[in-house]
Amino acid sequence: MKFFVDTADLAEIRDLADTGLLDGVTTNPSLVAKAGRNFVELIAEICDVVEGPVSAEVAATDFDTMLKEGRYLAQIAPNVAVKVPLTPAGLKVCRTLANEGTMVNVTLCFSAAQAILAAKAGAAFISPFVGRLDDIGQNGLNLIQEIVEIYSNYSAFTTEVLVASVRNPIHVVESARMGAHVATMPPSVIRQLGNHVLTDKGLATFVSDWAKTGQSILDQPLPKRG
Ligand code: G3P
Repeated sequence: MKFFVDTADLAEIRDLADTGLLDGVTTNPSLVAKAGRNFVELIAEICDVVEGPVSAEVAATDFDTMLKEGRYLAQIAPNVAVKVPLTPAGLKVCRTLANEGTMVNVTLCFSAAQAILAAKAGAAFISPFVGRLDDIGQNGLNLIQEIVEIYSNYSAFTTEVLVASVRNPIHVVESARMGAHVATMPPSVIRQLGNHVLTDKGLATFVSDWAKTGQSILDQPLPKRG
């Protein structure tokens, strides 16, 4: 499973890229508004830090302007994935940009039927929002299961399932069990993935027991072998 970070905070992106665990970045207009930066400049900087796909969302909702914005954003760097909403106009833009060789991430997906349309429109990624479905009392993970199952029935569907609106490690683990290709997560969830109270407790014990040995690994000469 690939890990994308869902943020427009460049400092966070740099920090996570340093771990070697980051495969891409997703942004959206709300995250960009929070960052308070010039959008195009910000996307260019993110693309310099991360080699994998960097999703940049169009702002317009009509076909002509979305297409112009998408073509413009695609020129920032080869790893830009243009993000379009799952609307009839968005799907048409998706098909046009995909035919031109641009990666497209179709966002705001809340049903399997919508995901089928995105695959048929040549999307590189479909973004089903699990957390927002959970928020209205529906099971977001059931949608991931449905899309993964449907896509796996058709070899012509090359669209990757990018699990979005992720709120906790359970969303990530369950999506991975289902075979989703990518999870995009806020930085806090990526960090949460590695936490376990028994890891902390076990490490504290090993550190204190090691101190009792009075040894230092790096002060010990390597034995000659063979
Ligand atoms: O970027 C799309 C998605 O991940 C947004 O998540 O938390 O605003 O529902 P959220």
